Amino acid sequence: MSEPLRVAVLVSGSGTNLQSLLDAAASGDLGSARVVGVISNRPGAGALLRAERAGVPALVLDHKSFADRAAFDAALREGVTSLGADLVVLAGFMRVLTPVFLDAFAGRVINIHPSLLPSFPGVDAQGQAFAHGVKVTGCTVHFVDAGLDSGPIISQSAVPVRDDDDAETLRARILVEEHRLLREVVRDLAEGRLRREGRRVLRRP
Ligand code: GAR
Repeated sequence: MSEPLRVAVLVSGSGTNLQSLLDAAASGDLGSARVVGVISNRPGAGALLRAERAGVPALVLDHKSFADRAAFDAALREGVTSLGADLVVLAGFMRVLTPVFLDAFAGRVINIHPSLLPSFPGVDAQGQAFAHGVKVTGCTVHFVDAGLDSGPIISQSAVPVRDDDDAETLRARILVEEHRLLREVVRDLAEGRLRREGRRVLRRP
């Protein structure tokens, strides 16, 4: 039995991806991974309530109360360090991270993004895909680097765009896939199944 993988989850919103990880951990579906703490940059985020219900420590670091991005990232770095996290999961965390944070956790920060990257990076990826008229979109889990949704891709899942969709029905269909994909990647990382070759991330059978 491998050592538990200690996971810190960073959030900004309702936290359905966080919930998916919490539920998977509770049902033994996350390998050795454990969610050891949640940090939100938004005081009212629904994700905080989900953490509380699961008995997971939660911390609010309101980015608005910091002088600049570097000061916020330094506080975030301290928060994650104090949790003793091995892996940092950005699950609907809507802040771009700088090297002040990233250099402390090199290769250990992943993000879930609601499009098939490199298409539609940035905010409202689902709305961008819908407006563009693509017939297939999806979601991506990738390692985080200092660019905008630009780090090495770990895994992706495709979702059809139907003629009777609107941006909201499309968002909901992608979200279901996000929950599955994120759980799968965290479990693979916990089980040491992924290895990197430059930009390529490969899964051992
Ligand atoms: C998810 O769709 C996630 O992919 C997206 O925010 C949503 C959070 O939902 N993240 C991004 O757009 C990051 N660029 P949740 O709070 O219910 O997990």
